[in-house]
Amino acid sequence: MPTAPQTAAVIDEAVQTLRHGGLVAFPTETVYGLGADAHNPEAIKRIFAAKGRPSNHPLIVHLAAPEKFDVAQVDWAALVSPWVRDLSEEALQLISTYWPGPLTLVFKKDKSVLYELTGGQDTVAIRAPAHPVAQALLRQFKGGVVAPSANRFGKVSPTSAADVRSEFEGMVDLMILDGGDCDVGIESTIIDLSSGEHPVLLRPGVITPQAIFEKTGIRVYKPGELVKEDETVQDNALPRVSGSLRAHYAPSTPLRMYGPGRVLDALSEFTDTKSRVAVAVWDSESSLSEDGHPSVNFEEILVPSDSAAFASKLYRTLRDLDAQGWDLILFPEPPAGQDWDGVRDRLQRACFGSGPSSMSHVSN
Ligand code: TXA
Ligand code: MG
Repeated sequence: MPTAPQTAAVIDEAVQTLRHGGLVAFPTETVYGLGADAHNPEAIKRIFAAKGRPSNHPLIVHLAAPEKFDVAQVDWAALVSPWVRDLSEEALQLISTYWPGPLTLVFKKDKSVLYELTGGQDTVAIRAPAHPVAQALLRQFKGGVVAPSANRFGKVSPTSAADVRSEFEGMVDLMILDGGDCDVGIESTIIDLSSGEHPVLLRPGVITPQAIFEKTGIRVYKPGELVKEDETVQDNALPRVSGSLRAHYAPSTPLRMYGPGRVLDALSEFTDTKSRVAVAVWDSESSLSEDGHPSVNFEEILVPSDSAAFASKLYRTLRDLDAQGWDLILFPEPPAGQDWDGVRDRLQRACFGSGPSSMSHVSN
């Protein structure tokens, strides 16, 4: 399972691998993806098998953004049209504002789009990732590449080539493109445009509804949010967004959150004096040791108090701490506000699914 630097020859090899129905892990600006040809049903099945993911959980199609993009001139409609049934003005506005970038849009699918990739649904999720290696691969492949995060089902998404390697240890025929550490660090924001009425936020990310409204005037609703009196945006019962299941992104070390000023309480609830606890603390706050020592062994890890910086390091930190053999990991609850919704969502799911027995209640 070689991890290759991205020379032209390596991109060539990756393109050939995809054309022959193989899998290629590649960096995006959010997390690493596990890629396959979106038009090859056998290759798509291989992705579900490699991840251990149920086949009704749909995948995102990744498309290349045109090479020299002058945002005003790019013909995004030509790029997206083969995949979707309707492309509204609103959709085109979101695309031209945020692509390439960490925004996934869900449309009614064109009939040519394989049900194997949509989990049997009539909709398809699409994004154009911004990472230059992803762009090089997609441009040369000249087709859609389905790519879930390159982790085993229910585990923390990978943000480096080494993370991908450790997830798929022993899978000899997996090619991994190394593009360094991912900048964004959490998965793309997903917005459902398939109802043709209200755009609905399916997964929070670094692009927030508030930022979208300020930039484009487009209102994105949260599922369940009241639109008008007596009209609620429907929250579909199907597992349309696997990340919407309660347990996801989970480390195997138990993980808990503590409220503002409650870290000593959280530690004192943990009475086993032999236990070792890793405590994440805002980098803007004073050290815990100034507040008195609880009876357990603990070590502080500073985490950024800026939401983008926090997101960028979240999975890295969880993976590293998980590998260090702590008995418990404590994280501070993120503050209120949409900028923190993406990381709060991932942290809550990680807490719920964490622990050695996590697979018993992890559903994704
Ligand atoms: O940032 C990202 O989006 C990363 C990188 C690799 O691009 N990909 C990613 O893929 O997070 P994955 O498969 O781990 O998560 C994709 C999410 C899933 O929760 C899936 O349910 C949702 O997208 N999704 C895909 N197609 C959908 C559809 N037609 N309707 C609703 N949700 C969909
Ligand atoms: Mg995932």
